[in-house]
Amino acid sequence: MNRKVFIKSYGCQMNVYDGQRMADLLAGEGYAETQSQDDADLVILNTCHIREKAVDKVYSELGRVREVKQARGKAGLETRIVVAGCVAQAEGAEIQRRQTAVDLVVGPQSYHRLPDLLKRSGTRRVVDTEFPVEDKFSVLPAPDRARTLARGVTAFLTVQEGCDKFCSFCVVPYTRGAEASRPVARIVAEAEKLADGGVRELTLIGQNVNAYHGEGLDGRPWSLRKLLERVSQIAGIARLRYSTSHPNDMDDDLIAAHRDLPSVMPYLHLPVQSGSDAVLEAMNRKHSADDYRRIIDKVKAARPDIALSSDFIVGFPGESDADFAATMRLIDDVRFASVYSFKYSVRPGTPAADQRAQVPEAVRSERLLHLQAVAEAHRQAFNADTVGRRTEILLERKGREAGQLTGKTPWQQTVQIDGAGFHTGDMVEVNILSRSTNSLFGRAVSAEAGQRTLIRPIELI
Ligand code: 5AD
Ligand code: SF4
Repeated sequence: MNRKVFIKSYGCQMNVYDGQRMADLLAGEGYAETQSQDDADLVILNTCHIREKAVDKVYSELGRVREVKQARGKAGLETRIVVAGCVAQAEGAEIQRRQTAVDLVVGPQSYHRLPDLLKRSGTRRVVDTEFPVEDKFSVLPAPDRARTLARGVTAFLTVQEGCDKFCSFCVVPYTRGAEASRPVARIVAEAEKLADGGVRELTLIGQNVNAYHGEGLDGRPWSLRKLLERVSQIAGIARLRYSTSHPNDMDDDLIAAHRDLPSVMPYLHLPVQSGSDAVLEAMNRKHSADDYRRIIDKVKAARPDIALSSDFIVGFPGESDADFAATMRLIDDVRFASVYSFKYSVRPGTPAADQRAQVPEAVRSERLLHLQAVAEAHRQAFNADTVGRRTEILLERKGREAGQLTGKTPWQQTVQIDGAGFHTGDMVEVNILSRSTNSLFGRAVSAEAGQRTLIRPIELI
């Protein structure tokens, strides 16, 4: 039977990865992936619970999906609706009470059971938000070559999942569960498959990826540094990144990987959340602002050209003007290449939700605007510094204009070049000539010299 599945992922990179694994799994059940909801027999919303807004988005999308289901029903077509991801985990059967069109609710640790759950949901509504004893990764099929090729030259690979840190604002320890690391051998096998499917840049992902401690090839626990060393030996993988890290797990070996391993990119996403010690304490972060500064100094000593990135929450309960000023001082000190910032959002069930001194919405908004303006100025300054440099970019996709290709610098900046003679997946040496707000513009060195010097170690397709 020719059935179609539409998968929409919200939120973080891990949801993107999980969505792809669901597609791989369902392909084995005869489902082809479609980009259009209207012709989907199965609609999966892979959801995010991190902030209230993300949850609201899911419910409004469910309203729209329900209308499509009804319209298709009138045409005699059946549509099944699945809610997966962290909202599924957190709200379970409540979702079906709020939106009766939902057939199946499946949490992030049990989606490997989708084929079986779908069969059961043919006759009744099903909820599976268990943290099962079996490891989903041992059940999920390996990524398929054709689908990997179609997904492009960059890929995510989950190496670690869950979190034991319990920051007082965060739902992740409840939705994704306790920290668990996959064994090195499994990760290497998956990375080799991805490389065979044309992947040139791999981002190892985990909610606390630098706390990685999976079983190594010698049977002993390996650190993220050792894992990076092993994965960097895989033919075809030219670039390695990892995300997201916690400051307290940023050990010296890992920092040195940015100096020692050429394929580990000079980019580090290291969320700090606040620059105020009082707020960090209330957040249960277990580090001070100066601890963070010291880590950044070490990272810069190991890799002076590193681009730094962070997450910030403004308006955490009890955050005073002085606390916020301390955050802005930290931002001025570090000068991040990119910053992700959020207004504190009350998450039911987390310790911070019970704190009385909630910051008024107007103050949260004002602080967010101020922080974002300064962070944007730093981002622009960082991009301005890149103009005039010669660097290597990985071509990822077609560019904005006809004939252009878009690539990324080692520092995650988007670059447009004249694509004549090049293909996605090529590593190209370019001179960065100019910039706009969100892009850099470059020219291949070989184009200037009238010759081609590109590195293409594996033949695609
Ligand atoms: N409110 C606002 N932002 C949050 N984050 C996590 N929980 C909350 C919350 N309750 C942010 C943090 C985290 C990022 C993924 O989302 O900055 O690093
Ligand atoms: Fe959430 Fe803190 Fe764990 Fe990050 S480290 S996932 S912010 S609890």
